[in-house]
Amino acid sequence: MSFSPLTSRSAVDILEELQLLTAKTMEKIEVSKHYEIIRELGKGTYGRVDLAIHKTRGAKMALKFLRKKTTKQKSFLQEYCISRYLSSCQYIIGMYDIAFETTEHYVFAQEYAVAGDLFDIIPPQVGLSEHITKRCIYQIALALDYLHSRKLVHRDIKPENILIFDKECRKVKLSDFGMTRIAGTTEKRVSGTIPYTAPELCETSKHSGFLVEYSIDVWAFGVLLFCMMTGNFPWEKALHQDSFYYEFLQWQRYKSAAVPSQWRKFTSHALKMFSKLLSIEPERRCAIKDVLWYFAKTWLVSKEESLNVDGKSNAEVFVHIKPPAALPLGGGSEAQNSNKSETSTSLSFSSCSSYEDVTKDNNSNSILVSTAIEICV
Ligand SMILES: Nc1ncnc2c1ncn2[C@@H]1O[C@H](COP(=O)(O)OP(=O)(O)OP(=O)(O)O)[C@@H](O)[C@H]1O
Ligand SMILES: [Mg+2]
Repeated sequence: MSFSPLTSRSAVDILEELQLLTAKTMEKIEVSKHYEIIRELGKGTYGRVDLAIHKTRGAKMALKFLRKKTTKQKSFLQEYCISRYLSSCQYIIGMYDIAFETTEHYVFAQEYAVAGDLFDIIPPQVGLSEHITKRCIYQIALALDYLHSRKLVHRDIKPENILIFDKECRKVKLSDFGMTRIAGTTEKRVSGTIPYTAPELCETSKHSGFLVEYSIDVWAFGVLLFCMMTGNFPWEKALHQDSFYYEFLQWQRYKSAAVPSQWRKFTSHALKMFSKLLSIEPERRCAIKDVLWYFAKTWLVSKEESLNVDGKSNAEVFVHIKPPAALPLGGGSEAQNSNKSETSTSLSFSSCSSYEDVTKDNNSNSILVSTAIEICV
């Protein structure tokens, strides 16, 4: 089922009704009677996702199992219904009209993304080419714009939640709406931070409330873009104590400061885009669709070019102009980001789960970051 944007009823009303209807019709079933489980596709904080074949329909689908021990029925219904509400967008993972429970899990069925998630194809410390990054991020920007236009905030933008259908990112879809909330509502922050967490949230003390705003997704989108093109995180946490973040902060605040080393591979156009996406003050951050304007520009400096970005060019004000009607996605720079960044940070590019879990990798002496955005109860 999909909804067209209705003017008379808000997203809140539709979602609440959909949740009530689902709760009434949800059956308890034995998975093996109806599905043949092929293999595990992934594990998340609250459960796992399996590739399964529906025994009567013969369709391959991804079943998301959420443990009853850690997931309330209300949270399950919320994730399932929001996913369905959004799934008519071509850049958001498709949903089957299937939700049920077993003794230990709540389960729903999703479209199967044959190539897995974006995290798996980003070469650590190298990153993806500008061409592939643009192709991928364009689709994610449209997915987020769709979400935001329906007054929802994803709140968990990261490569692991972007599903891909081919390794060249010709078809990618946003997924995992477990943290998605209605914009303007207040949520409790009860857990740690990951590199994608916006600074205003990093500073919010645990257990205190914060407002759900679109700017949270815009920040995470900026960090995602950096990760895709470098294969590194820009920082571990957007906190003053983090030296990489502190350097970025100084550079953004005092335009005379030198461009931090890990940002020097980007052109002045890309740096302007980053300073809009990663604006320290949330109210000054751009809207997701503003990023579309930059697709016609080159983002990575070529090997030959020496980057000459001074404080002044960063200080230039971004002009909000309408993005071109047809975006030259295929025509962007082909500059391959194949050489290791001369200045790669000491941060390992590792998957981020929603629970705080920072471990020290003895072999590489680097910090493996696996920390939470925040878990709201
Ligand atoms: N439809 C799908 N097709 C293929 N793989 C999938 C699909 N859905 C999920 N996966 C894989 O399973 C992983 C976990 O799924 P998901 O992000 O939905 O779980 P989660 O518990 O909400 O995760 P998180 O740790 O972000 O809270 C994904 O990162 C991806 O690798
Ligand atoms: Mg996830």
